[in-house]
Amino acid sequence: MIDSLERCRARLKSGSRLVIGVAGGSGSGKTTLAMLLAKHLGPELCEVLAQDSYYIDQSARFDGDGGQVNFDHPSSLDFELLHQQLDALLDGQPIEVPIYDFATHTRKKQTEHFEPKPLVIVDGTLILDAPEVFKRFCVSVFVETREEVRFARRMERDVRERGRTVAGVYLQFTRQVKPMHDQFVEPSKARASLVLSGESALDDELHRVLDALALQA
Ligand SMILES: Nc1ncnc2c1ncn2[C@@H]1O[C@H](COP(=O)(O)OP(=O)(O)O)[C@@H](O)[C@H]1O
Ligand SMILES: [Mg+2]
Repeated sequence: MIDSLERCRARLKSGSRLVIGVAGGSGSGKTTLAMLLAKHLGPELCEVLAQDSYYIDQSARFDGDGGQVNFDHPSSLDFELLHQQLDALLDGQPIEVPIYDFATHTRKKQTEHFEPKPLVIVDGTLILDAPEVFKRFCVSVFVETREEVRFARRMERDVRERGRTVAGVYLQFTRQVKPMHDQFVEPSKARASLVLSGESALDDELHRVLDALALQA
């Protein structure tokens, strides 16, 4: 692990600009893996960009969890802006990342300033399904986790961190998260260059990402 980490660091310091994608179902462990990778490489070399920041403002249509708005469908996301901003970063320009408020389903007025880094990690469920975004990845990871595990993790997170009710989370999972997973997320795994387990020891999985990255950087 130390070896591949050092190799990665050295290559990233040599001036290359890379984007990698970390995809997988909701609750699979994408954000955990992306954050761990970012932590190991450090803030000078890398930063994480979340698909979640690119939700289109849905406040006018939102009618409750599991209702009319399908947050798990690709049309709920502004992938156009995401790929434009990836191009800007690859070009060495800073970007202003939208901030999405999960409590009100609105895009905030403020944005988050994001400086170009040698490595950008994009974390999201549908990023391998969006062709213009996928094209920009030199390594694409799919984190694979069983549905019952993903559901339990999501329930815990949405109730605790996103102010949702148990019934609302259940409804949204069965009506939207699961069908969209089966229709878009799972099939996109075939495009991944690396399929990892979201239920195994994270250090082992991280090692495999670093190895793949060291070959690219
Ligand atoms: N490899 C793993 N083993 C055990 N628990 C994990 C693993 N990866 C993530 N988790 C846990 O699962 C939950 C969901 O992970 P998260 O990274 O937020 O998922 P995602 O971003 O894919 O929705 C978190 O509580 C996290 O600590
Ligand atoms: Mg996440």
